[in-house]
Parts: sequence; structure tokens; C-alpha cells
Amino acid sequence: MENDRNLSNRKAPNRMENITQIILDRFSCRTYNEKPLSTENRSLLELYVQNLNLGPFGSKAKFYLVAATEVDNSSLQELGTYGFIQGATAYVIGTISPEGKNLEDYGFLMEKIILYATSLGLGTCWLGGSFTRSTFSQKIKAELGEIIPAVTPIGNYIDLKQAREGLLRKRINADQRLSWDKLFFIDTFGSPLTKQQAGKWETALEMVRRGPSASNKQPWRIVQKDGNFHFYLQRTKGYREGIIIRFLGVQDIQRLDSGIAMCHFELTAREQNLPGQWIDLDPKIEMPDDLTEYVVSWIAK
Ligand SMILES: Cc1cc2nc3c(=O)[nH]c(=O)nc-3n(C[C@H](O)[C@H](O)[C@H](O)COP(=O)(O)O)c2cc1C
Repeated sequence: MENDRNLSNRKAPNRMENITQIILDRFSCRTYNEKPLSTENRSLLELYVQNLNLGPFGSKAKFYLVAATEVDNSSLQELGTYGFIQGATAYVIGTISPEGKNLEDYGFLMEKIILYATSLGLGTCWLGGSFTRSTFSQKIKAELGEIIPAVTPIGNYIDLKQAREGLLRKRINADQRLSWDKLFFIDTFGSPLTKQQAGKWETALEMVRRGPSASNKQPWRIVQKDGNFHFYLQRTKGYREGIIIRFLGVQDIQRLDSGIAMCHFELTAREQNLPGQWIDLDPKIEMPDDLTEYVVSWIAK
């Protein structure tokens, strides 16, 4: 059967060339045209998601494409998104092991899937809160202990321009991003990093800045020190304790944002032939407040 997980020795062709363009093309699409994915896109996505099993911190992940077909479009009817998503005919649902930096790993891997779908000309939307966990979990027969931190619909746009200008995107200022001096620093949190100081790393940092984040809070902070990049999460005050977040049973959602930032940084750096690797090497830089925590470092080679 096509959607059995038995294709893992085959690889989806890598279409992720020009990663910066793909990152800039992505946006949260909440309305789709109800047409099932083409057979080709379905197979490409199935292959791609089946091969993403390990995050940069080593957590084990499994991703599934659940897609309606021309013949059977009933398969998604019970999946609920509280009305946030309309017309979707496919979802990627993933699970991750419960310990360690699992949410960062999940953010990293799911964002790769989202960018791959974008490269195929498809719309996506991270959903960390607005989906009914129990029905999505039943759909993929998740095992006890496996968690589903977030999902994404995948589908064809109705009208690209209209989708980009959706009401909800306007309301949450989805196109706005914090400026460099709020996000990137050199040596200490007190000194903003300029684009000149970033030099050849400017694009990789800019791609972090352009990334999606839960409620567009952009909690990533990066300190450049001795040619390396130290990633931090500056949590949004009160966000985790918010009534809606608690009601929806959402995980520590901003940790997913850290994984997304790592994904954008690494893919851009690799495309620009800037080698390096992720290492847990806390440089013990003084924190600006107690909402900020160290995540990981990109050690340039
Ligand atoms: C981890 C994560 C969880 C999100 N959860 C939701 C959600 O539950 N519902 C929703 O409508 N949008 C959700 N979003 C989308 C964000 O609101 C969106 O990425 C942000 O506003 C920036 O807009 P853009 O993606 O169009 O660039 C989520 C995004 C991320 C990264």
C-alpha cells in the first residue's frame, strides 16, 4: 500500500534549492481549494516525511501524510481545527519521543517538511494549538507516550494573493518581524549585532528572522561570539500560562520556535557553503532576564 511506512529506503528528490526563496515564499495559509493533492505531490511528500526520523538533538520522530484522494475524500472529515483551517485535504501529523529537547527537534523537522511542501508550490500552516489532539492522534494510531506537538494542513491555494492577505494574518500582523537589534547580539545581550559584523552569516540570520513562530512572538535570540552562534529562547511573559493555551493542552509551544530557527539557520548556512554543527556548549553569557534560556550553539568550522 502506498501509505504504508515501507518506502524508507527511497528518498524524495531534493527540491529545496534556493532555500532563501522558499523561506520567503512560505506563509501561513488557512484556506485551501478542497482539491486533493496530485498523485505526484502525494508520493513526493510521503517519501519526504517518512525519511525524517531523527532531530538534531537525537529525538526519534515519525511523520505521516494523511491525505484525501480523488477516490476517497472522506478520510479527513473527523479532524478538527476549531474552524481555523478551511478546505484542507491533507495534513502532516507527527509524533516525537517524550524526553530531552524533543520539541526543538520536532520544530526543526516539521519546518523542513513545511519548506519542502512550499518548494512544491503548496500551502501550509503550523498548528500548535488549533487542532483537536485526540482525533489527530487516533488518525495515526499514536502509541502511548508519543506526543503530537503540532500538525500542518498541506494543500493547494485558492488564490495566492488572497491567501497571503487573509484576515487572520492581518490581525496578528503576520508579516511583521522584530528588527535585527532586538534579535541578534555580539558577545553580550547588551550589544546588537550589525549586518556588517554578521558578514557572510547575514543571510542565515535574516532567514531566522523571517521564520514563523507561535502567535508571531519571535522568541529567538542569537549571540555571535568568537565566530560561533549561540541560540537562546526568550519566552513571552505569561504566554505559557494563558487560558487558551492551557485549555488546548498545548505543549511548551515556544520551544518549537527554537527548532524552526535552527532549521532556517542550518539550511541557509549549508546552501551558502558555511559549514558548522550544533553543539550543546553553553558559553555562560549573562542572561538579560529570567525568561531567557540557552538552547544550543552553531559552531562554525
Ligand atoms: C509553533 C507554531 C504554532 C502555531 N500554531 C498556530 C495555531 O494553532 N493556529 C494558527 O492559526 N496559527 C498558528 N501558527 C501560525 C503563526 O500564527 C504564524 O506563523 C505567525 O503569525 C507568522 O505568520 P506567517 O506564518 O504567515 O509568516 C503557529 C506557528 C508556529 C510556528
